[in-house]
Amino acid sequence: MRIPKFGLGTFRLKDQIAINSVKNALEVGYRAIDSAQIYENEAAVGQAIAESGIARQELFLTTKIWTSNFSEEKLIPSLKESLQKLGTDAVDLTLIHWPAPSQGTNITELMQLLLEAKQQGLTKLIGVSNFNIALTQQAIDSIGAEHIATNQIELSPYLQNQSLVNYLSEQQIDVTSYMTLAYGKVLNDPVLLEIASQHQATTAQVALAWALQRGFAVIPSSTKRENLISNLKAQDLKLSVEEMQMIAQLERNGREIDPPELAPQWDE
Ligand SMILES: NC(=O)c1ccc[n+]([C@@H]2O[C@H](COP(=O)([O-])OP(=O)(O)OC[C@H]3O[C@@H](n4cnc5c(N)ncnc54)[C@H](OP(=O)(O)O)[C@@H]3O)[C@@H](O)[C@H]2O)c1
Repeated sequence: MRIPKFGLGTFRLKDQIAINSVKNALEVGYRAIDSAQIYENEAAVGQAIAESGIARQELFLTTKIWTSNFSEEKLIPSLKESLQKLGTDAVDLTLIHWPAPSQGTNITELMQLLLEAKQQGLTKLIGVSNFNIALTQQAIDSIGAEHIATNQIELSPYLQNQSLVNYLSEQQIDVTSYMTLAYGKVLNDPVLLEIASQHQATTAQVALAWALQRGFAVIPSSTKRENLISNLKAQDLKLSVEEMQMIAQLERNGREIDPPELAPQWDE
């Protein structure tokens, strides 16, 4: 079992807005949904799935464990609560949301708890998010790379994370690119506009196609049905080697999300 290449993000979406986005996405063909305990939308995601009538086994559900649940007493019970909200017996993927090294996180203990959740059948796959190379190595040393399905990281044309991507590829850990659109910042980029015009595509499709062609999974979010539909069509867009090279040059360490209390020291 691998990470689906195209999923729906749900960060910032709550209540009816989350329900509408997920229902629209499921109607237009999305089958993977990325949620998290801290998004406070697991119940909304669960409701949208129930109302969609789509069978659970057709879907790939991800949740993420928040830092307040990083303990033996809390991690597995919190995941069980997530399952209840999502209306499922097991999720497909559970991630450690942030490593929070400044809070004294014990990565070894955390990964062993996550592996235990997998062994209990609460989640089919497990992985990490926002881990740098050193912390991913610690996670591998704790439970083995074969148990770490993905590292979900901020990755867009403006923040390409090349050293971490190289390392994850060596370890055969999938890369999930979050904020591939840099929360909209890349959408007016002149190079992406030029490439988009060559393909009668949108800049969002070009950014997503670039990430997919690099082998990353993507999870763009949208509250608009037309954006959900057109983003999904990025899977049909094939960029040339030259176009991929033009996008490679857009790197500018353009990190959007860097909370000091949660983030590790990022790799250069
Ligand atoms: N692991 C983590 O720590 C972490 C952190 C951040 C995000 N994530 C995950 O990654 C997902 C994606 O990140 P994100 O939602 O922050 O940002 P994003 O997907 O880069 O961008 C979403 C924004 O782009 C707009 N948009 C989407 N498609 C568009 C299109 N075709 N044309 C124009 N605008 C478009 C959306 O507005 P409209 O609603 O108007 O379309 C929304 O404002 C999140 O939802 C979450 O699931 C994970």
